[in-house]
Amino acid sequence: MQFAIVIMAAGKGTRLKSKRPKVLHEVGGKSLIRQVVDAAAQIVPPEDVYVIVGHQAGMVQDAVAAQGVQFIEQTEQRGTGHAIQQARTAVQGYENVIVLSGDVPLIRPETIRQIRDFHLERKAAMTILTAAPENLQGYGRVIRKSSSSDEVREIVEPKALTPEGAKAREINSGIYAFSSKPLFAHIDSLGTENAHGEYYLTDMAAILQAAGERVLALEAEDANEVLGANTIAEMMAIDGKLRLMTARRLMAEGVTIFRPETTVIDAGVTVGPDTVIEPFVQLLGETTIGQECRIRSYSVLEHATVGNRVVIRQGCVITQSQIDDGATLGPYAHLRPESRIGEGAHVGNFVETKKILFGKGSKAGHLTYLGDAEIGAGVNVGAGVITCNYDGVSKRKTVIGDQVFVGSDSTLVAPVTLGEGSYIAAGSCITEDVPEGALALGRARQTIKEGWVAERKKKK
Ligand code: UD1
Ligand code: CA
Repeated sequence: MQFAIVIMAAGKGTRLKSKRPKVLHEVGGKSLIRQVVDAAAQIVPPEDVYVIVGHQAGMVQDAVAAQGVQFIEQTEQRGTGHAIQQARTAVQGYENVIVLSGDVPLIRPETIRQIRDFHLERKAAMTILTAAPENLQGYGRVIRKSSSSDEVREIVEPKALTPEGAKAREINSGIYAFSSKPLFAHIDSLGTENAHGEYYLTDMAAILQAAGERVLALEAEDANEVLGANTIAEMMAIDGKLRLMTARRLMAEGVTIFRPETTVIDAGVTVGPDTVIEPFVQLLGETTIGQECRIRSYSVLEHATVGNRVVIRQGCVITQSQIDDGATLGPYAHLRPESRIGEGAHVGNFVETKKILFGKGSKAGHLTYLGDAEIGAGVNVGAGVITCNYDGVSKRKTVIGDQVFVGSDSTLVAPVTLGEGSYIAAGSCITEDVPEGALALGRARQTIKEGWVAERKKKK
């Protein structure tokens, strides 16, 4: 029971001007709070992670409850110092407490481990993770006792900066390690005489230092890792960095990504080597793509499972669907949830699918809707074919056997079964099952009226 990790996530995020609590905003396809909780849970067991919730507490709890972490309620948000005061009962039994900010999402487990080890080795009362980013705006500044020392005198919040203090380039990341004993012995000394009238956790640096305790600064190796997200612009800057990191990881694994800055790739995505991703592609959620595929521009894949050597042409939208090896899609195909496209199959332009099995080598080239259907192998679906799967009350199923030919512009009124090798004449409306190998014609016979055009002209 050496370390507890406390994550401060009770604030509203006023600077975002959003109805959603700040820590539920997303970067890299994952909420801020989830990013921080996931990092923390790699350092201590989830039951030693305490999330301080307040503003929209229920929503924030729901977002990370499945991770098995604990929650502490801060009903009134009276500052970061006040937040840690609320955690006293829960965490004073641990020897040390690491404090993370719910709005500093890029923090890596390695860095948490680093501050933990440094704090223990140096027997500090408080260790502050610091950084020297280019843009200092909005950050508290860390004032060391001297430039050659890692002992800290105080942290000064932006509104209290003197022109002299404003020269300090070292910022407070909002991430700390504390020894519990001195922290809770002195935390009630915090006051509210400051620009916001809040209890600042940052004041603990000066308080502990004045009490003769050791307060140290540890500079993060990469300032990007401790960027705070207070505004939408800051969040999007972090989002861009995260996604670029993901693109770089994939490129290192052998994936070609043209113009990676135009792609939107979530952290959980995996792609096999020799796959090529063109500009303006989005790969979201738990999407996995195999080797030697080509994903052309403007395609958006969400929770998609794609095999090897698949070609997805421009503008495809694919959600919760599976595409087997060697299939080709699009341009402009729309695969809605639970579509499975078989090996070597082709789903062409303006084809929409939903909850279908589409067999090996089958083709639906143009302008088609296939929903709630089981389609065998080697099937040819002509242009404009529609499965009429909805009767106004419930969804009905269409079953199409292997090697069936469905002529263009046919409507298949479900429930209906087309037997193996059957042949549907173009323009048919099929309402009854078709036996194996049969021809089905479901349309009015064509009639011809010779000389009709000339006769009509004469009448006029
Ligand atoms: C804080 C630090 C600042 C540091 C910066 C780093 C203070 C006073 N200042 O400023 O020195 O450079 O982080 O990003 O701590 N929160 C609560 N309860 C509250 C208030 C805040 O849980 O009553 C949470 C927020 O939800 C947020 C975190 O604490 O996740 C930080 O609060 P925020 O208001 O964003 O602090 P900053 O102004 O960024
Ligand atoms: Ca902040």
